Amino acid sequence: MEASNNRDIPKLREVFGRSFDIGAAVNPRTIRSQRELLAYHFNSLTPENEMKFESLHPAEDRYTFEQADEIADFAASNGKKLRGHTLVWHNQTTDWLFQDGKGGTVDAETLLARMKSHIHTVMKRYKDRIYAWDVVNEVIADEGPELLRRSKWLDIAGEGFIAKAFEYAHEADPNAELYYNDYNESHSAKREKIYTLVKGLIDRDVPIHGVGLQAHWNIHQPGLDEIRAAIERYASLGLQLQITELDVSVFDHEDRRTDLTEPSERMKDLLAERYGRFFELFREYRQHVAAVTFWGAADDYTWLDDFPVKGRKNWPLLFDERHRPKEAFWRVVNG
Ligand code: GLA
Repeated sequence: MEASNNRDIPKLREVFGRSFDIGAAVNPRTIRSQRELLAYHFNSLTPENEMKFESLHPAEDRYTFEQADEIADFAASNGKKLRGHTLVWHNQTTDWLFQDGKGGTVDAETLLARMKSHIHTVMKRYKDRIYAWDVVNEVIADEGPELLRRSKWLDIAGEGFIAKAFEYAHEADPNAELYYNDYNESHSAKREKIYTLVKGLIDRDVPIHGVGLQAHWNIHQPGLDEIRAAIERYASLGLQLQITELDVSVFDHEDRRTDLTEPSERMKDLLAERYGRFFELFREYRQHVAAVTFWGAADDYTWLDDFPVKGRKNWPLLFDERHRPKEAFWRVVNG
């Protein structure tokens, strides 16, 4: 049940409305279980999984739009903006896309033709409802000297698949804002690789309008100075930025403990402190930051429950499991 006694607290979308949009990732369950909270605080939504390739396009001649439509309808009937996520990714993509039907691998030309057909079909369906798309997600290699991550896309089509994705997307909906989106975006080595990729696209006149900083952060990492450096570096490309998947794990990356049934006082303090500082920074760069989207709305549902540690709950958002504002919320709001 939703707590309904939070009616007189400030609305995030009003507090930040003059600076940037405030979004949340949703799914068919949370548009019901978090309906009031979503309606009250956010002015933008992103489908968490429902517009990914495997959700929309399970077989070459079959699309499944029901859940995506449900989210698009919820956004429209509540007057929320909608971001599309995501067109080209190495994960959550069905195998048929890369196969030739005879047990082999498809050739580059066929793969690109399928990509084009997918992008056109999906983007045209939501043309009037989705204002921005994550066109390409996570193609940069986290470690090592290589710029691009190994993937079927890269193996089959070569690095040109990235530019093609943006070109097809621009053809499909010339009004849509087109984003490159990635995580570990504030890590200096990866930041430079993302910069190099995007700069290369701009130099070749590829239609790209923004960089999405996923911002899956935690109570210690990355440092404020690293986040600032990343924002400045991407902004220097002359594109707009969005924080696309913000959450703040109360566990360090290496922390594997599973004994907690609630966050410790220290975790709560750090969470509040960090959130406050992040929003100070986002405000400072509001000229560049067009939207801040949380990857979830309240702690009753987060993809970080059970990930990366099975059987462990996490508390990474501004609202608790009963949708009450946490101390982190007040730090964000009161600056
Ligand atoms: C990445 C993807 C998201 C989502 C998260 C985990 O960041 O971009 O779509 O899958 O991982 O929920």
